[in-house]
Amino acid sequence: MCGIVAYVGNKQVVPLLLEGLKRLEYRGYDSAGVAVITSSGMKVQRAVGRVSVLESQIEKAPGFEGCTGIAHTRWATHGSPSVPNAHPHSHKTSDGYLVSLVHNGIIENYVSLRKWLEAKGHKFTSETDTEVIAVLIAEFYKGDLEAAVKAALREVTGAYAIAVICEREPHTLICARKGSPLIIGIADKSYVVASDASAIVSHTTQVITLDDYQVAKLCAGPNDKYNPVAEASGDTSGGGGPWKVDFKTTTIDDVPVTRDVQELEFDLAQIELGQFEHFMHKEIMEQPESIRTCLRGRIDLRDNRVVLGGLASFTRELVRARHFILTAQGTAFHAGLIGEYLLEDIAKVPARCHYASEFRYRNPIIEEGSITVAISQSGETADTLAALREAKDRGSLALGVVNVVGSSIARETDAGVYLHVGPEIGVASTKAFLGQVLVLTLISLYVGRRRYLSAEQLHNYLEELERLPDMVSKVLEQSDAIRTATEKCLDRNNWLFLGRGYHYPVAVEGALKLKELSYIHAEGMPAAEMKHGPIALIDKGMPVVFVATQGSQYDKVISNIEEVRARGGRVIAVATEGDTQITRYSESVFYVPHVSEALQPMLTVVPLQLVAYHAAVLRGHDVDKPRNLAKSVTVE
Ligand code: AGP
Ligand code: GLU
Repeated sequence: MCGIVAYVGNKQVVPLLLEGLKRLEYRGYDSAGVAVITSSGMKVQRAVGRVSVLESQIEKAPGFEGCTGIAHTRWATHGSPSVPNAHPHSHKTSDGYLVSLVHNGIIENYVSLRKWLEAKGHKFTSETDTEVIAVLIAEFYKGDLEAAVKAALREVTGAYAIAVICEREPHTLICARKGSPLIIGIADKSYVVASDASAIVSHTTQVITLDDYQVAKLCAGPNDKYNPVAEASGDTSGGGGPWKVDFKTTTIDDVPVTRDVQELEFDLAQIELGQFEHFMHKEIMEQPESIRTCLRGRIDLRDNRVVLGGLASFTRELVRARHFILTAQGTAFHAGLIGEYLLEDIAKVPARCHYASEFRYRNPIIEEGSITVAISQSGETADTLAALREAKDRGSLALGVVNVVGSSIARETDAGVYLHVGPEIGVASTKAFLGQVLVLTLISLYVGRRRYLSAEQLHNYLEELERLPDMVSKVLEQSDAIRTATEKCLDRNNWLFLGRGYHYPVAVEGALKLKELSYIHAEGMPAAEMKHGPIALIDKGMPVVFVATQGSQYDKVISNIEEVRARGGRVIAVATEGDTQITRYSESVFYVPHVSEALQPMLTVVPLQLVAYHAAVLRGHDVDKPRNLAKSVTVE
């Protein structure tokens, strides 16, 4: 995915665009660019690398004064990170005016469109799919940018969020979306458009969103009809002031639509680093607080119940569910794997978690009584959104477990439960993972109590959940010891992560964290599976991380640890407080408080998050923006 920022209003646009890009840089950052309409026409500047590179180039480039502009941080899908492939892409209309565009998504029929446009004499300057939209708009432009954009969008297939400007209409900004996120902020005498709220909230909290196939025309400029004298005598035909702002929303087929103005629940403090060096560290350390905000209003010890308002109208379907289909990607998929165990263990309902990218193409069997749960921090992951749609098309009730309020997945589900863990800026997901597992736990308890879970069992779980934030705090106190243990193993480029039952998905998540942050290869799997091949990898000194807490399979895990040690592996263990036996087998032990097995993953994952974080810092990597990654993969 990428970051889009666009502005039309009465302020100098370049500082606003650059500030917005920096807030969105976690979304994708292989190249960046801006286009501004100045008194001498369109000015475009593009650069490979981070926004700071673009910023320093603009500082040296004269003439970037203007109040209408668009900007983009790219996560390449078609064409390498290079200046010619960076956005904005621009193209001249037949009457010589430059149109500039930024895009998030993939245009699937770009090859055929490019051939058609080249046959009409248009010259392309990039390898990207995006450029065909800019050229199409220029081709269709007959003096009305909005009409040209709609004509172009009616020709493309694929996903897009776009912002478009044209030299001939210096006070107009057109934006549109299908499948990729875009938010429009209504500010004082201006409009700010961005891929997510973090680039809008410093300007306004009044926003509108667009549904698929919808277009917004945003105008902000001098009001040359304004007549203060006539105004003074009550004649407001002059438009009510020297500065005119106006917007309208329609479909790409020109059908007017009404979009309600919403209040952003977001504040800048949540996306500031504070005393932390990295967002990921901040988000790991604030997990006790994010658990509290996720639980707020949802567990009621007095009445011994779980309160999930978002699901209330589907309680009957939930209680009668015959099968839960969980679907997600990446870390959210690992949360879904834990959800399988939770739903079967606590709610006694068959459950299976599927990679969304596989589920959507597998012609899935969805029978009566199936409930599909899409799990996503961003709520914009293209494959997860597509899997959700596939399940809905086949008649499944579709629920969401999502963090970003108002995101595409959230808006397309029949119901859902927000994580409420606050914005997650670090590209590697930590507090959102904990939130996903916590919400899946709450759903399992909500359904379980209406099936076979006794009141006493529920009460015990609720009491433990209430203590969970403090338990996580105790685990976080071991951060320095975890750093020391990690540093000892950093010379090895292959690690194994092993666990059983609830902790098999924790092991897989721990491996992903280490991979995506330290670039060390790691593999997570069920501990027993190691004997069926991967044990061949173990040589003297190979780090093997075991999640070995007290539980139903503890003795089996100890046997697996012995098998690893017998081959020279170095054991790092996550164990239950008070377990002294484990120290005999382990080079390092990180302890978690005793809690029911079903709740242990929310504790045992924390040391693994810290292992990955410290490994990245020790290796000098960009912790918040690891190479090649993006915060949400809104392309397929
Ligand atoms: C998380 O550490 C990864 N960056 C990635 O796997 C992520 O979990 C995945 O892309 C899903 O994102 P989502 O939760 O926003 O859908
Ligand atoms: N597909 C477009 C490109 O590769 C947009 C990628 C993005 O969303 O950043 O340039």
